[in-house]
Amino acid sequence: MLTVRAPATSANLGSGFDVFGIALGTPADVVRVERAPKTTISVSGAGSEYIPEDPKKNTVGAVAEALDAPARIEIDKGVRPSSGLGSSAASAAAAAVALNELYDRGLTREELVPIAAEGEALVSGEAHSDNVAPSLLGGFTVATADGVTQVDTQIPVVACLPETTVSTRDARGVVPDSAPLGDVVATVGNAATLSVGMTRNDPELVGRGMADEIVTPKRTALIDGYERVREAALKAGATGVTVSGAGPGVLAVCYEADQRAVASAMLEAFNDVGIDSRAYQTRVG
Ligand code: HSE
Repeated sequence: MLTVRAPATSANLGSGFDVFGIALGTPADVVRVERAPKTTISVSGAGSEYIPEDPKKNTVGAVAEALDAPARIEIDKGVRPSSGLGSSAASAAAAAVALNELYDRGLTREELVPIAAEGEALVSGEAHSDNVAPSLLGGFTVATADGVTQVDTQIPVVACLPETTVSTRDARGVVPDSAPLGDVVATVGNAATLSVGMTRNDPELVGRGMADEIVTPKRTALIDGYERVREAALKAGATGVTVSGAGPGVLAVCYEADQRAVASAMLEAFNDVGIDSRAYQTRVG
């Protein structure tokens, strides 16, 4: 069987709602495919009990259909669903790469972005590319209607996942329809600062540029313990903290020397409010 690994991702980064994304060194999904007369899907690993195996309801089924590439598909989940780390996107990205190769479709990674995003539409109701783009291309990505811009960077991050879940659909439901001009201006400034920070590999600029007053405050209200975890991470040396994707994962950016302390502080803060969590100390990669 043909095997492809695709990384977890963190979307939005605060100021880049539905636009920014980063690929994480760990965790990852692994997808195995072989040609078959019709598509069948089996799922194992983290949270697999919550993932439908019916190809019509699974992100990977949508990818197989979009590529006209029926296959027996095995998904080994390393990225827990509804955690804020692009779980469905990792499976969709891995399947897109694997099926493109299996059927010699000859598409580039960039061309696979909208195809993998078809799977996202199935999960969230909208085909946004901010998770599939970094999962396919690596690094930091800026996904817009005109395409994707990618930058290689190695910013250290901590992604802390509580044992609670927030569905992407619910988290999209609290996003405001409009925002005051002042908040938009501030967010554009922060997004620009963050982008410069990524190109310079500068955790200080990236952390500062994650600030967002439009979407993030609405979503933090859905995450028990968020403020406590954020404050603990900042005190331990994080340069910025925000919601990872649609949550409930929390993403901190920091210097490598502070990574362990930041991870411990976040785990402890969730623990203080009675929530078990798991921290990934990794890099954008
Ligand atoms: N940009 C998306 C959101 C990522 O925040 O809703 C989650 O799929």
